[in-house]
Amino acid sequence: MDCPSDTVFILEDVNLFFGSVPILTDVNITIRQRSITSIIGPSGSGKSTLLRTLNRLNDHYPTFRCTGLVSYCGNSIYDNRNGSVDVSRLRQDIGMVFQKPCLFPTSIYENVLFGVKRLKLRPKSEFYEIAETMLRAVFLWDEVKDRLKHSANELSQGQQQRLSLARALACEPKVLLLDEPTASLDPKSSEAIESLILKLGTRLTVIFVTHHLEQAKQLSETVIFLSDGCVCEWGGVDAIFSCPDKIMTQQYLAGHAS
Ligand SMILES: Nc1ncnc2c1ncn2[C@@H]1O[C@H](COP(=O)(O)OP(=O)(O)O)[C@@H](O)[C@H]1O
Ligand SMILES: [Mg+2]
Repeated sequence: MDCPSDTVFILEDVNLFFGSVPILTDVNITIRQRSITSIIGPSGSGKSTLLRTLNRLNDHYPTFRCTGLVSYCGNSIYDNRNGSVDVSRLRQDIGMVFQKPCLFPTSIYENVLFGVKRLKLRPKSEFYEIAETMLRAVFLWDEVKDRLKHSANELSQGQQQRLSLARALACEPKVLLLDEPTASLDPKSSEAIESLILKLGTRLTVIFVTHHLEQAKQLSETVIFLSDGCVCEWGGVDAIFSCPDKIMTQQYLAGHAS
């Protein structure tokens, strides 16, 4: 989908529920194209739920409900009245990587190309080149180039996470959603992912959830702080970290300062 404006997501008066339980209330935010946004907040504050709302991944939970406007590139993505939302197209545009790498029980090579093959994005003659380009992009090529046909399960957690990213990138998403992408990684793999996020932010819209405030500070331009069932505060990274408006934000940042 081409975005007619600089704004990729608009959320207006959005309320998210599981069953009758409100998870987030009155969410009003916008996200710019080709920017890096972090979502921070205490455990259970709704970070993952908000992230999954953006590519309709919560649809997998039958009790999930979303009211208000969630617009992606000018299209209301929860408005099914005209049968107008092509969810698989939406998820092709908006890739996602989870906290725990979730790979298919097949080879490293097949994992990178999974989406490309399934969606028939590129001709077979380009497959090897795509695999190499994507694995290089996530700093994994040198570690796996001699065992592309080996099972992806052989890889370490950090390598698997980079492979998940390579697989998402191979589908040429316009937006990348990352849910605590470095939570279970060693420092070296975390650094690799952080460098990659910075690099990707120049050409894609990246939205990531993190518990590491330093990571949010270093990588993102915009920060969304969730607490007590709402977006407590959001805005430019400098404003949020150096002079937050809300007491709750101040307390959260102070409590997490290391
Ligand atoms: N599939 C689900 N069904 C019911 N409640 C859920 C589901 N997923 C998350 N929740 C609830 O929604 C709230 C927010 O969860 P989550 O978005 O995972 O928070 P965070 O990512 O900030 O830790 C929590 O109270 C959690 O228990
Ligand atoms: Mg979460």
